[in-house]
Amino acid sequence: MTADPSGTPMTSGNLLTDNPALYEARFPDPDRLAGRWAEDCLRRHGAGPRVLDLGCGTGRDAAHLHGAGRAVTGADLSEAMLAHARTHHPGPAYVQADLHGFDLGEGVFDAVVCLDSSLLYCHANAQLDGFLASCRRTLTPGGLLVAEMRNGAYFLGRTDLLDIPTVDTFTWQGTTYRSATNLFVDRTAQLLRRIRVWSADDGSPPVEQHSAWRLLFPLELRHFLAAHGFEVLDLHDGPGPRTEPAWREGESPGVTADGDRLHLVARLSA
Ligand SMILES: C[S@@+](CC[C@H](N)C(=O)[O-])C[C@H]1O[C@@H](n2cnc3c(N)ncnc32)[C@H](O)[C@@H]1O
Repeated sequence: MTADPSGTPMTSGNLLTDNPALYEARFPDPDRLAGRWAEDCLRRHGAGPRVLDLGCGTGRDAAHLHGAGRAVTGADLSEAMLAHARTHHPGPAYVQADLHGFDLGEGVFDAVVCLDSSLLYCHANAQLDGFLASCRRTLTPGGLLVAEMRNGAYFLGRTDLLDIPTVDTFTWQGTTYRSATNLFVDRTAQLLRRIRVWSADDGSPPVEQHSAWRLLFPLELRHFLAAHGFEVLDLHDGPGPRTEPAWREGESPGVTADGDRLHLVARLSA
């Protein structure tokens, strides 16, 4: 930890991804909606059994896919997430990998799954290229890429999620946590940036954290995918696991890409 000039303790880490149990408490998914939605996409498009969950986080979705009969590898950059996943969501193999560029073998997966905006940690075009080139190498011809993320296009002309601090509190294991969050658009970098200040009633000092996600637009995504040999099968704003209302078993994909979440299924050309 370092301190800024005003004395506020700062960290470059991320309270939630550094504390996977807290992450799961903050974003509960008791019905495994994200995992079920991903499995539905895989089944609908006839994916083979070998799945890579990239940016797997706590391992919840990887374990769900494993439970559905798939041979799953979960990959993440965070050792804390991987350690949690191995202990709490056993079944899949868990490995460290950077989604900006990874080599987990050639033609060894039938599908890559990338949920809850993990793909948007590719900030620069070169990182997106690295991600798609790595997916292409690791997928078998005809393999699928399934992703779910924020939709950059949502922020064209809309400011409802921006520039107004939102305050949230929740209690976990007897400690009440408070977060004050500010989202803003960095147009030059084409990023959605977040500054979040955490405080807790356990006497620990406040922590300020900076995160960013690529503002990726649907037609831009189509262009990157085509350049790397992927054919887009679905690209829409819902229903999905994090839309309002949420996706329900049996529901078909939509056709618009206007809402704040984007859902993608693409196939690597044979
Ligand atoms: C919002 S979480 C989503 C986790 C999980 N997919 C889910 O839906 O619960 C994003 C995850 O991406 C991981 N991540 C961030 N940058 C990464 C990178 N460059 N390579 C691999 N994983 C990364 C984080 O450690 C974190 O676990």
